[in-house]
Amino acid sequence: MAESDDPGGVETIWLNARLATLASGATGLGTIDNGALIARDGRIVFAGPQDAIPADRRARARVVDCERRWITPGLIDCHTHLVYGGDRAREFEMRLAGATYEEIARSGGGILSSVRATREASEEDLIRSALRRLDALIAEGVTTIEIKSGYGLDVEAERKSLRVVRRLAEIRPVAVRATLLAAHALPPEFADDRAAYVETLAERMIPALAAEGLVDAVDAFCERIAFTPAEVARVFDAARRLGLPVKLHADQLSNGGGGALAAKFGALSADHLEYTDEAGVAAMASAGVAAVLLPAAYYVLRETHAPPVALLRKYRVPMAVATDSNPGTSPMTSLLLALNMAATLFGLTVDECLAGATRNAARALGLEADIGTLEAGKWADLAIWDIEQPAELVYRLGFNALHARVWRGQ
Ligand code: NIG
Ligand code: FE
Repeated sequence: MAESDDPGGVETIWLNARLATLASGATGLGTIDNGALIARDGRIVFAGPQDAIPADRRARARVVDCERRWITPGLIDCHTHLVYGGDRAREFEMRLAGATYEEIARSGGGILSSVRATREASEEDLIRSALRRLDALIAEGVTTIEIKSGYGLDVEAERKSLRVVRRLAEIRPVAVRATLLAAHALPPEFADDRAAYVETLAERMIPALAAEGLVDAVDAFCERIAFTPAEVARVFDAARRLGLPVKLHADQLSNGGGGALAAKFGALSADHLEYTDEAGVAAMASAGVAAVLLPAAYYVLRETHAPPVALLRKYRVPMAVATDSNPGTSPMTSLLLALNMAATLFGLTVDECLAGATRNAARALGLEADIGTLEAGKWADLAIWDIEQPAELVYRLGFNALHARVWRGQ
């Protein structure tokens, strides 16, 4: 759309568009019917009614006629585990034959089978396999993605995974946040000494990888098959000492007080939340923790206990929706399908789903000042859709209505 020899400061105007701005103060989707959007130097400088733009400003700009298409903020997938070796198709077949996720995990499969494959993989292997998944997400209008490590579980393999995460951002036009999830599972070499692993993680791994500039946030899996609240607290204390924000895999398989734990540490988000109770939701609300709902993992595990959406609404906890793309519980690379699942399985409205993949997803990453809505000052990250109404983005299954994607104005 834009030539590389552009002089700085030339504006691009997208005219004749319907905007879903998702602006915070607006009601619903913040819709503008005869809308226009102007970007300069990668940032939005105007999003509003097109008759507010004087003719001479149009004459100086590069103009794109949207032919009444809809523009939303570029989509944000705020929770993925996109970088890993191998796959878990065999475990899928075991689960079809009746084995449960927890049984497979306890017998050395599950996350640990992906750890073996990730440790064996080269950086180039990991880039190649992750790019296929990343490209599928980009093709649906994703402009920002969070990617967690957590299939390395030692300093070398976690470093390798996080370096791959950073490389992906250089290879593709997409913003990438790197989250260290070394507290994902207990690695086999520490099977008899949990405390030593947590100690290594807190005292060595987090500080070393953070010092290398590889870590934007720290996550942990708080669950009976993973880490206890006390162990997570140790990890989060270490993150806090380094000034790193934290996030939590909370209450996915059982109520372990994850919502309250995330609140205690002022986490950016608590994710999954299938078993979170009212006290947990209330704690999240008072600490400003966002909820990240991951309906594909719920679907794959054939979970029947849905997250407390009514309570999240009652306490006004911002709800984001993400793919959780990972080899075990969510081998999915479609954020649009995640939105459909959030509506069908969790009862979110269309407006909640779209806010969940834009404004609230930005919030769950701590990036709400820069992305997530169509408002002046934010990055010009746009998704332009061939649709008649926003509900189509949630309603269809396996259909990609994206017409064009703009990242940082290009
Ligand atoms: O978000 N809950 C823990 N982590 C992943 C699953 C990872 C895996 O099974 O490989 C999740 O669902
Ligand atoms: Fe996850």
